[in-house]
Amino acid sequence: MRAIITGVGHFVPDRKLTNKDLEQMVDTSDEWITTRTGIKERRILEKDKGTSYMGVKAAKMVLEQRGISADELDLILVSTATPDMMFPSTAALIQKELKATNCWGFDLSAGCAGFVCALATASQFIETGKYKKIMVIGADKMSSIVNYEDRNTCVLFGDAAGAVLLEPSNTDDLGIEDFLLYLDGSGDKSLYMAGGGSLMPATLETVDNQMHYLYQDGKTVFKFAVTNMADVSKKILEKNRLSGEDIKLFIPHQANLRIIDAAAKKMKINRDQFVINIENYGNTTTATIPLAMSEAYQEGRMQKGDWIVLSTFGAGYTWGSLLFKWAID
Ligand code: ACO
Repeated sequence: MRAIITGVGHFVPDRKLTNKDLEQMVDTSDEWITTRTGIKERRILEKDKGTSYMGVKAAKMVLEQRGISADELDLILVSTATPDMMFPSTAALIQKELKATNCWGFDLSAGCAGFVCALATASQFIETGKYKKIMVIGADKMSSIVNYEDRNTCVLFGDAAGAVLLEPSNTDDLGIEDFLLYLDGSGDKSLYMAGGGSLMPATLETVDNQMHYLYQDGKTVFKFAVTNMADVSKKILEKNRLSGEDIKLFIPHQANLRIIDAAAKKMKINRDQFVINIENYGNTTTATIPLAMSEAYQEGRMQKGDWIVLSTFGAGYTWGSLLFKWAID
């Protein structure tokens, strides 16, 4: 039994933070940000709302599109690096708000790669026949952990959520065909948030030392991302005896336009085959891929039976690719 995507949705907050706005906040310029990252603006969620708020909005869009009610869900799987709180899970908060009264759920943490990891995990619950309707959500309120005095990171990130519904297909022709996922903890010093966990619980000292913000060694992550995103995408194509021409769309993690361009070049794939929306949203961490997928669907870029490749990388390091056939008419 194959797992197919039967609905896709997203949510972005209304408030825009533009490069011009950032020029007033840190020593940067629209020109630097645009040429080095491809980002023009990002969305910022209201201070008094958390990641679950956006996850609920994205999930509601999916339920409405599919024409089912929340109590039909069996499982809510949320990938996030910015849960509303340490516990209970963001999945629990979303379950409550959706009134999804017949399901189980949990959070999955894999940095920016979280959504692809969650989709792969959910597909296994469908393939075993255990569950029939799984809401997979990728949501992050990056503005809650970004230091808006640090020009190295504050220009990069934004807030958003995306979601898909996964269901069983009665044909083997559609749905999730394969995935390759990797973990290499040697990246633990390149991208992390040190404070607030069990090793360094929040104290006045951790706050004074700004340990409640994300830290990134951008150059190191950049090199890692270019190599691995291209390699893993090539690998999944080879493994499934497909070439770049067989693929309708590549939906990559949106961290930096130069990373996407370099990966496309390395793979010798036409840039038109890539879904790119980083200009409008920046890096929304686990939300980038479902958000890009939702927009591509709305724009009519995917037809039933089209091969799609997702490729991702993030903190850990964690990275991978997922190959599937689009199943919605
Ligand atoms: N405006 C102006 N100058 C800046 C800015 C800014 N916003 N940010 C950095 N600079 C400066 C630096 O201070 C540095 O100055 P120096 O040479 O005097 O020290 C100079 O620009 C060049 O900095 P680099 O780090 O070499 O710039 P680079 O071209 O590598 O771009 C960037 C930096 C955009 C962060 C890039 O390295 C990148 O995109 N890295 C990958 C990020 C990424 O993908 N992260 C997501 C991972 S996934 C997850 O799980 C969250």
